[in-house]
Amino acid sequence: MAVATMQRPAMMTNKRGDPGNFGPAHAPQTAHVTAEEFSVYYGGNEAVKKVSMAFPAGKVTAIIGPSGCGKSTLLRAINRMNDLIPGCRTGGRLILDAENIYGPRIDVTALRRRVGMVFQKPNPFPKTVFENVAFGPRIHGVRGRGDLASIVEESLKRAALWDEVKDRLHENALGLSGGQQQRLCIARALAVQPELLLMDEPTSALDPIATDRIEDLIGELRGQYTVIIVTHNMQQAARVSDMTAFMYVGELIEFDSTSKLFTSPSEQKTQDYITGRFG
Ligand SMILES: Nc1ncnc2c1ncn2[C@@H]1O[C@H](COP(=O)(O)OP(=O)(O)OP(=O)(O)O)[C@@H](O)[C@H]1O
Ligand SMILES: [Mg+2]
Repeated sequence: MAVATMQRPAMMTNKRGDPGNFGPAHAPQTAHVTAEEFSVYYGGNEAVKKVSMAFPAGKVTAIIGPSGCGKSTLLRAINRMNDLIPGCRTGGRLILDAENIYGPRIDVTALRRRVGMVFQKPNPFPKTVFENVAFGPRIHGVRGRGDLASIVEESLKRAALWDEVKDRLHENALGLSGGQQQRLCIARALAVQPELLLMDEPTSALDPIATDRIEDLIGELRGQYTVIIVTHNMQQAARVSDMTAFMYVGELIEFDSTSKLFTSPSEQKTQDYITGRFG
C-alpha cells in the first residue's frame, strides 16, 4: 500500500458549521449508503423498522433519538457488526455504493476495511501507540518499516494526535488520556483507508475538552470521509453534522439537513424530542 494512496479525493467540502443541503427538498448529491425499507430484527423484535434514507458521501450525518430506538443497531448494520449477534437478521436492502451490504457476493472483511468504526469507550489494544495504528495496515499486507511509519504518522496527523504522541510512539497506548485514546482509535480506523467512519457516541466517555477536540476532528474529516455519528447530545449533532436523522422506536421519523431539522422540523414527534418533551 503506497502512502500516496492515503490521499482521498476531496468530495463536497464543507466548512464546519455550514450545514449541508442534502435533503428531500434539494438536488440530490451522491449517496454513499442507502437504506431501502431496511429492517433489523433481534429474534421477533424489529429494532429497525423499514428505514429508507440516503447517507450522503463526504458529509457528516447524525442519528439521534431516545434510548433503545435502534440507532446503534442501524449504525452497526453498515459494517455488519450485528452478524455476531445470534438471532439477528435483516430485511430490505442496505446499499454501499451500488452493492447490497447483505448480498451474497459481499466480502465482509473487505466491507469492514471500507467502513471503519469507533465505539463509545476508547478501546486501544494494550500495545504501543505505533502498533495500534500499524495493526490494520500490517494485516492488510503492508510490511516495509518505512511504509508503516509513514502510514502511522499520516493517520495520527489526520486524527489530530501526532503532535501529542510523536515522542511517545513506543509507549503503551493505555497510558494516554481518554481523549487521546479515542483519537488513537480514530487514527487506527483511518490507517486502513476507510471510505466511511461509523461513530457510536464517540465522546460520551470524554470530558468537555476532549469532546471539543473530537468534534473539531470530525469537522476536519468532513469532505474526505463519509461520517455517520450516533449521539445522545443534540447540541453535538447540531454542531458537527450536515444531516440529521431522528429515530423513534425503530422508525425513521425525520431526516433532513441539520439546520432544518433543529429549527423547523416537519414532524411533531421531532419537535417534541428536540424541545425535550420526552427522551
Ligand atoms: N444484542 C441484542 N440482542 C437483542 N436485542 C438487542 C440487542 N441490541 C439491541 N437490542 C434491542 O434493540 C433495540 C434497539 O437497541 P439499540 O441498541 O439499537 O438502541 P439505541 O438507540 O442505540 O439505544 P441507546 O441510545 O440506549 O444506545 C432495543 O429494543 C434493544 O433492546
Ligand atoms: Mg446505542
